[in-house]
Amino acid sequence: MSKTFYVTTPIYYINDKPHIGHAYTTIAADVLARYYRQQLGDANVRFLTGTDEHGQKIEARAKSENKDAKMYADEMAALYVETWKTLGISNNDFIRTTDSRHEERVVKIVNLLKEAEYHGEKVLYQDKYTGLYCVGHESFVKESDLVDGLCPDHKTKPNTVTETDWFFKTKLFIDDLIKVITDDKFQILPITRKNEVVSLLKEAAKGTVNLDFAISRPNIKWGIKLPFGDNETVYVWVDALSNYITALGWPDEKTYQKFWPANAQLIGKDILKFHAIYWPAMLLALDIPLPKTLFVHGFFTIDGQKMSKTLGNVIDPKDMVAKYGNDSLRYYLLRDIAFGQDGDFSETKLKERYTSDLANGLGNLVSRVTNMVEKYCDGKYELSTKSIIPVDVKNFHEALKEYRFDQVLAHLWLVIDVVNKEIDEQAPWKLAKNGEVEKVKQKLNHWVSIVLEINELLEPFMPGTTEKIAKAFEQPVKKAEPLFPRLT
Ligand code: MSP
Repeated sequence: MSKTFYVTTPIYYINDKPHIGHAYTTIAADVLARYYRQQLGDANVRFLTGTDEHGQKIEARAKSENKDAKMYADEMAALYVETWKTLGISNNDFIRTTDSRHEERVVKIVNLLKEAEYHGEKVLYQDKYTGLYCVGHESFVKESDLVDGLCPDHKTKPNTVTETDWFFKTKLFIDDLIKVITDDKFQILPITRKNEVVSLLKEAAKGTVNLDFAISRPNIKWGIKLPFGDNETVYVWVDALSNYITALGWPDEKTYQKFWPANAQLIGKDILKFHAIYWPAMLLALDIPLPKTLFVHGFFTIDGQKMSKTLGNVIDPKDMVAKYGNDSLRYYLLRDIAFGQDGDFSETKLKERYTSDLANGLGNLVSRVTNMVEKYCDGKYELSTKSIIPVDVKNFHEALKEYRFDQVLAHLWLVIDVVNKEIDEQAPWKLAKNGEVEKVKQKLNHWVSIVLEINELLEPFMPGTTEKIAKAFEQPVKKAEPLFPRLT
């Protein structure tokens, strides 16, 4: 296992407040960060998230609210920071693309790209270009991707623009990218996404697809000024992707040297091309090592429908936290939707999980065990000196390292169910009635040991709950307050 661990989320656009999709990626990254902190120590783990604040989309949004772009960005970034706090997110840093520490380094990056050569050819070239620009994507799109002339994701008509931009010659990197991705030197997970990227690169190698991309945009004011252009700003994706290294203090700060290359970059499938092709190509051009793993998760619908403002079904994670508690939301998202696959978010299913797995499962276990320790053992117990949890802990760690969060949780709940059943069957209250006190104590020592083992494994997923459980087992133990009160 590597000695340090650096995990990132995408930096989110601030044209809207955070929704449940943003929360999903951020919670998953938080679980990894907390898990690796347990394994490697706090100082050896770094978890970055942040906000993507420049570009046409944000500029237009601020204007529509009659606000100065920076003022608007400050308000929205604060909302993200606050939301992550509510969700118990333990990020070590929060990067904003309007931070001067970021802007200065992006200038350095584009200056280096301007000079860079790869396989003996200049990486950047200038070209006059006519294309369809989708502001929602902040990207040029192909005519063949449109449905009835509209962007299928944003339902908007892209603008036809003719402009002179600086372009990045992705062509130069195609063969090397195919190689590092195929060899897993730059690992893309799940494998279906890796295959998708490799076949796109192969198309590009044949010349059927052009993956060159603009690194500058003229006439866009809200951005980082291109140092070698007049009236141009750095293309917002080049600006945004750079955050993963600028936040560490690339190139010479200690944090950068300690944590780069990233161990895990988490993204949704919507931004695969940017992270699996543009970003590693930029890094190769700059002679910077590539991230170790890019994990691409799926998208979820809301009760079977696409989440959209027009449908009015956008879910604010803070509302879910207010109703069900932070850890219940975290548990539901990672238990019910297989990480890496598409899924569906449904409040009804969240409620079902809350009642069956949390209130009747974990909550009931903690409540009855603490109750019996208080009642039959004067609040005292002795922990087993060796691991006795009836689950293959090796499998647990393997599954976690492979991002199979749903299976990790399913494993733990199997144990919770087994112990709850054992308690029913062995009915320690009957033994106590018959005066078999020693036997009852032994059994409770066993169950407390298992509960506390589960508690440690569960900490990355449900940090608030596991803290409460640890407190409830401080001796002398008293019957715990319900962890998951009945829903009204
Ligand atoms: N700003 C860019 C990313 C730049 S990273 C250098 C961006 N921002 S975004 O606000 O649109 O966030 C996209 C990300 O939000 C997705 O990649 C995914 O992580 C998350 N999700 C947004 N909607 C989602 C779902 N419906 N389901 C799951 N995740 C979703 O793109």
